[in-house]
Amino acid sequence: MGNLAWLNGNIYELDDAKIGVQDRGFLFGDGVYDVIKIYNSKPFRLSAHLDRLEKSSLAIKIDIPNSKKEIENITKELIEKSKCSDGFIYMQVTRGCTPRDHFFPTGVTPTLLIYILDIGFPPSKRDVKPTKCITLPDERWMNCHIKSTNLLPNVLAIQKAKEASGGEAILFRPDGVITEGTRSNIFAVIDNEVRTHPESNLILAGITRSIAIDIFRKSNTPCFEKAFNLEDLNKATEIWTTSTGSEITPVYSVDETMIGEAVPGPVCRYLIEEFWKIVETECYS
Ligand code: PDD
Repeated sequence: MGNLAWLNGNIYELDDAKIGVQDRGFLFGDGVYDVIKIYNSKPFRLSAHLDRLEKSSLAIKIDIPNSKKEIENITKELIEKSKCSDGFIYMQVTRGCTPRDHFFPTGVTPTLLIYILDIGFPPSKRDVKPTKCITLPDERWMNCHIKSTNLLPNVLAIQKAKEASGGEAILFRPDGVITEGTRSNIFAVIDNEVRTHPESNLILAGITRSIAIDIFRKSNTPCFEKAFNLEDLNKATEIWTTSTGSEITPVYSVDETMIGEAVPGPVCRYLIEEFWKIVETECYS
């Protein structure tokens, strides 16, 4: 079996799953989503991702039509039927399919889509791929804690990074404060302290971010959820991104300025080691 999709109660081959053109996710971006990594046929930190999906949908007043337990079961069934060992689960819930009108519709069941994307090979755990970043103004809305499907500012920013041969754009507010990346959270070692933007409406509370913070807390590594700005970034001896998609990714340059002496630096290297130990324990044993 190839990639499978569960859409409103039925399972399809991914390419055969179709939504109506009046779906509010399509017309208004009126929906939220989440992405989970599959390692060794196991969804990593599924429960945390489902809690976040629920929070995001509650924040925009969409009632997910299925319970958390049901979604867990659907997810496991899809992984099994797809025979997926390594890949992603994408979940999206929208306000449903109904004639276009800006007001919330009444009596319309939200659309729930869950699909598997097999990447076909296990992660090469020690294959750390440092990346280069550019900084760009954060042009997103003021509710970045909601994992909304409205990703146009993110798409435009990461495309600019790609055109500059980079892998991520580091976003900053008008006051110079670094928020996060277009699809990752940003960490920096500044004055021997690990820092990342605190949870707020300006960032997504990344699941990988919280794993990283936990790792540092447990090892008594000084780590603070404390914002830093563009000027601080110039002093950073290490920078990395965290995300479900690319785990812990060290950054070797920002706006063409090289970061640190070794990439990954010692703090990031420790984090990578500890992160994969957790994946190993939760998904491989
Ligand atoms: N993106 N910040 C933003 C804006 C994100 O889109 C993401 C994840 C993260 C990292 O969150 P997590 O560690 O929970 O994956 C931070 C997903 C992977 C995506 O849009 O594909």
